[in-house]
Amino acid sequence: MAGGAFVGPSTGGNYEGRVTTFVITTCLVAAMGGLIFGYDIGISGGVTSMDSFLKKFFPSVYHKENEDHRESMYCKFDSHWLQLFTSSLYLSALVASFFSSTVTRLFGRKISMLSGGLVFLVGAFLNGAAANVAMLILGRLLLGVGIGFANQSVPIYLSEMAPAKIRGALNIGFQMAITIGILAANLINYGTSKIKEGYGWRISLALAAVPAIMMIVGSFFLPDTPNSILERGHPEKAKKMLQRIRGTNNVEVEFQDLAAANELAKRVEHPWKNILQPRYRPQLVICILIPFFQQITGINVINFYAPVLFKTLGFGDDASLMSAVITGIVNVVCTAVSIYSADRFGRRILFLEGGIQMIICQILVAVMIGINFGTNGVGEMSGSTANFVLFLICAYVAAFAWSWGPLGWLVPSEICPLEIRSAGQAINVSVNMFFTFLIGQFFLTMLCHLKFGLFLFFAGFVVIMTIFIYFFLPETKNVPIEEMNTVWKAHWFWGKYIPDDAVIGGQNLKELTA
Ligand code: BGC
Repeated sequence: MAGGAFVGPSTGGNYEGRVTTFVITTCLVAAMGGLIFGYDIGISGGVTSMDSFLKKFFPSVYHKENEDHRESMYCKFDSHWLQLFTSSLYLSALVASFFSSTVTRLFGRKISMLSGGLVFLVGAFLNGAAANVAMLILGRLLLGVGIGFANQSVPIYLSEMAPAKIRGALNIGFQMAITIGILAANLINYGTSKIKEGYGWRISLALAAVPAIMMIVGSFFLPDTPNSILERGHPEKAKKMLQRIRGTNNVEVEFQDLAAANELAKRVEHPWKNILQPRYRPQLVICILIPFFQQITGINVINFYAPVLFKTLGFGDDASLMSAVITGIVNVVCTAVSIYSADRFGRRILFLEGGIQMIICQILVAVMIGINFGTNGVGEMSGSTANFVLFLICAYVAAFAWSWGPLGWLVPSEICPLEIRSAGQAINVSVNMFFTFLIGQFFLTMLCHLKFGLFLFFAGFVVIMTIFIYFFLPETKNVPIEEMNTVWKAHWFWGKYIPDDAVIGGQNLKELTA
């Protein structure tokens, strides 16, 4: 990239405009992309705890679970193939997010959502009709491609559409949709597991087509973001769109900032090489660490394997699926707390409180399981103890739901200047998917080896990430997306990476784009 100026502040973010119904509606439709992700996270756990599914595809696990009473409870479900069913999706999402980053940049956020929805739909049909493990896993791989596209485009779409002062709330619409998707999946599993003929799992897997169709239809009606229209060379159209979403003709100041950001982005020939420059070090580090930390909280142990985990703790089949529904409800309700608080109280406070609450809950869960099952995994939990563990797990899910869950997607999508935004988001999605894959693939094996210590393992990481946030994450609430550089420049540690010419006044920005 040519040296010189960079995106900087012009107004301190006092753009004109109001929160229009148009912007709220488009963001609601776009957040539907989160539904497909959530549905998949939630559906696999229930399906893999259904006997008819295990008998058909994973008979050895079925045998271990039902007949071999000598097996330690920690190891009952330890099977690489079973885990591959859950985790293969995230591997293909990882690869897809790199392609979708180019699609998002060259063809817009909307096309990226549409393509994601279509591939996902095919995956859902393959899964519902699966006759063997290969079909099952191929279907999951296609679902993953869909998710890679949706997770790349939707958070950026939301952050670009939203006026700065409610960007947090609108972006968290994505996470809200994820949690609703998980809950819907839990409820559907609860219902289909009762089908005596044993084809319930087919319905569960095929119903993934519903959120896919919603996203496909939605994406036809969505306009593209002004930033993306501009990026693709249509300034007049971009300005009209900005006027429309802000509900006023007076968008000059915000448009100038967008235009300046776009000018700079255009000079960047290699977004991938570019993000490696020292001046983007803070964004690069955050886009890698936030998704890693989000996954190493251990949340997907609950989302993927809650029914299996509760069964392991001695809950009956029905109670296990019901417990998954309860954690699903807590997840949705507590995400709303974040929608309310992220723009009012800021991102940092939510991260810090959520982290501390998760640490306490994880330590207590480890202690309770350790006391009752010891290291050999033989024992029983009384009803009241099991309920207490369920309560602790709910408190842990609540903490995640108002902190790392939504903020894990919000923060990386809002901290990058336009010229590295797609690349930064692709890194965020792929790191997230990679660690989601690892958890999906190895959790049951880790549980088998680390036993109750597994929960302490996750707690240890939450301590580290909470300290990281305290020292290294600046507050980004209410800062306009194309002015984020001021925040980095002012930071005690990251400031030194941001060259002085990176933060320039509105006057210079106008000159730059004249
Ligand atoms: C995470 C997922 C998680 C979901 C629901 C998302 O933010 O990326 O891995 O399953 O929240 O808890």
